[in-house]
Amino acid sequence: MNNFELYNPVKLVFGKDQVSKLTDLIPANAKVMVIYGGGSIFKNGVYDAVKQNLSAFEWAEFGGIEPNPHFETCIKAVEAIEKHGSTFLLAVGGGSVIDATKFIAAAACYTGDDAWKIISEKAPVTSALPFGTVLTLAATGSEMNSGSVITKAATQEKMAFGSPLSFPKFSIVDPTYAATLPHRQIANGIVDAFTHTVEQYVTYDVNTPLQDRWAESILLTLIEEGPKVLANPNDYESMANLMWCATCALNGQLRVGVATDWGTHGVGHELTALHGIDHARTLAIVLPGVWKVFSTEKKGKLLQYGARVWNITEGSEEERVAKAIQATVDFFESLGVPTTLDRYELGQPTIEQVVGRFKARNWTAIGDRQLFTQDKIAEILNLQLAL
Ligand code: NZQ
Ligand code: ZN
Repeated sequence: MNNFELYNPVKLVFGKDQVSKLTDLIPANAKVMVIYGGGSIFKNGVYDAVKQNLSAFEWAEFGGIEPNPHFETCIKAVEAIEKHGSTFLLAVGGGSVIDATKFIAAAACYTGDDAWKIISEKAPVTSALPFGTVLTLAATGSEMNSGSVITKAATQEKMAFGSPLSFPKFSIVDPTYAATLPHRQIANGIVDAFTHTVEQYVTYDVNTPLQDRWAESILLTLIEEGPKVLANPNDYESMANLMWCATCALNGQLRVGVATDWGTHGVGHELTALHGIDHARTLAIVLPGVWKVFSTEKKGKLLQYGARVWNITEGSEEERVAKAIQATVDFFESLGVPTTLDRYELGQPTIEQVVGRFKARNWTAIGDRQLFTQDKIAEILNLQLAL
């Protein structure tokens, strides 16, 4: 097992009616800015519940955070915060609202000339406003980690940042508010959580049997519970299991001591930045290609994944690896999430654009063991042109 440090200060408050705890969770006398997205919070009852539990505070609100949140909108939120004199931020929504709030919290305290440098130049975050979250969508795990992904609309760049000051102080996860999620967002959430898990699992063996079994338990639970939620988003028990899977997939625990590979996310972000494809849908395109291209390097873990998650035990090693990849493609497709570029009417020009972006940034190799060279990225996407 590799050496590791594990730090996670987020207080996670899970279950029905837990929004009532807001009064105790937010520091007394805080001036609160509630941050939300395009309006889903008005349809699922969470806005009213939050409002009811903020009566002890002076508060204001900032709406309009878009999916794949824009830097430009975050800067408008910073201006609203300065005007209001907010001392605490409350994100209410999905991963985009939470990620935006992480950036807004840091940008509000940034003293440099251009807050984009927090992302583009990894300018250190030395101070940030405290914030909490109320989650309404199971997918990113942002509610329990310190990462954030922001898009600069002006240049179509989508990039991540993170800092120890970017952990929420608390996150409330009440599956009741996720019942209004459309089929597409539920399917996206299953694929995102699935991919986060395999990116910390399907790499190479460094003797981490416990972490491997954690990963396998999340994958098996997603495979069992995901379709139930799709069939009935009002099924509280299944939604609760799905949300907990998504949180655990990216709250830091799976990552400890293992070899990770975030290459699928790295390539996927470019597809979102260029074409606006939903985050999880980009992963469903890239992941099968990654496994096909690196099937030798990842063979041990792909065989283990195939056997333990999909019960694939028959055939040669090559056949079992191919079956494991196909089982994953079939699972994503069964959720209604396409795994090829042609389904978005994209082809060769996009592949050249994506590779060109890596070249322009001088990102020569990403992923575990730096396997993702520019040539390999082209090969991966070429395999995903059509089914
Ligand atoms: O904007 P509103 O009106 O709230 O609607 C949202 C949005 O249109 C809607 N929605 C959310 N909760 C709902 C709901 N609709 C009905 N009922 C509800 N209960 O769903 C749409 C998508 O929301 P969004 O927040 O964009 O989705 P998600 O949670 O998948 O977040 C995606 C973003 O997170 C980033 C992605 O790159 C993307 O920008 N990620 C963040 C990560 C992190 N911080 O750790 C890791 C991930 O890998 C990912 O990169
Ligand atoms: Zn993701």
